[in-house]
Amino acid sequence: MPVETIDRLARELDAESARVAADVDRFFAQQLAPPGDSRDRLYEAMRHAAIGGGKRLRPMLTIAAARLFAIDGERALRAACAIEAIHVYSLIHDDLPCMDDADLRRGKPSVHKAFGDAVAVLAGDSLHALAFEIITDPDTHQDPWVRSDLSLELARAVGPAGMAGGQMMDLHAEGQKLDLPNISRLQQLKTGALIEFSVEAACIMNKMPPEARTPYRGYARNIGLAFQITDDLLDECGDEAAAGKRLGRDADAGKATFVSLLGQDRARQQAQLLVDQAIEHLSSHGSEANLLRAIARFAIERDH
Ligand code: IPE
Ligand code: IPE
Ligand code: MG
Ligand code: MG
Ligand code: MG
Repeated sequence: MPVETIDRLARELDAESARVAADVDRFFAQQLAPPGDSRDRLYEAMRHAAIGGGKRLRPMLTIAAARLFAIDGERALRAACAIEAIHVYSLIHDDLPCMDDADLRRGKPSVHKAFGDAVAVLAGDSLHALAFEIITDPDTHQDPWVRSDLSLELARAVGPAGMAGGQMMDLHAEGQKLDLPNISRLQQLKTGALIEFSVEAACIMNKMPPEARTPYRGYARNIGLAFQITDDLLDECGDEAAAGKRLGRDADAGKATFVSLLGQDRARQQAQLLVDQAIEHLSSHGSEANLLRAIARFAIERDH
């Protein structure tokens, strides 16, 4: 692809990312209006975590894939926000003292630092529940079978066979030396499963038969791994101000990551290879899939 085309796509990605960020903020601001009673602090904690920050990679993926399939934009935004609600919950709990004990997230104090551990646990719980409330609402899809499928697959992606299971493996791997297949499995559950669901959700809303989903699953799987390798690289050599979170924590905690196993250079090569493969999966599409291609590049070419 010519350099000018890549530059233009990068600008389009920036514009799209700003639009998605504003839409997601507006959606959460509406959903999380404080009720004016003793739950206000809980709502404030949820707003603190969910509004005004983050790269919104998962919503971008859902919205871009949904657009490729000509799915209604408001419905796609609802599915995208359900997924982001899960992601935000996972970050709140990931930062708790009993997990990674991180005091900074998205350039702000982490939720337990600002509101205390108990409120942080409840804010995470509530965002987890909110995700299922949004995704099972008829406004997200008119067909109850589709809504049921969305919730089943989302539950699978975030439970012990998905994200929570990956977080367990991540805790267990502290101080251990994992080999490449085991690190890939850990990362695929911890980060990959929700990223994969971000694209799968659009396939489900499009009522695609499972065999037609193969290229999109391949695309999302490769991006999920490349994205986590980049997170690990940034932890080792990124800039804290740009990342908006404390870095260098993985090595301190003795976490098994792609970088600890392969070293920076090979990890970077591996991430690039995965992105090339992700883009390859879209080869049956023309320019209508350019946004998904640009997101794949962004997964590794980022400083935060
Ligand atoms: C951070 O996710 C945790 C991982 C799963 C790697 P993001 O890098 O997507 O965090 P935000 O949403 O941009 O803050
Ligand atoms: C967090 O991974 C993954 C989930 C929250 C599921 P990390 O612990 O690597 O994320 P950061 O680096 O704190 O954002
Ligand atoms: Mg962690
Ligand atoms: Mg962490
Ligand atoms: Mg990390």
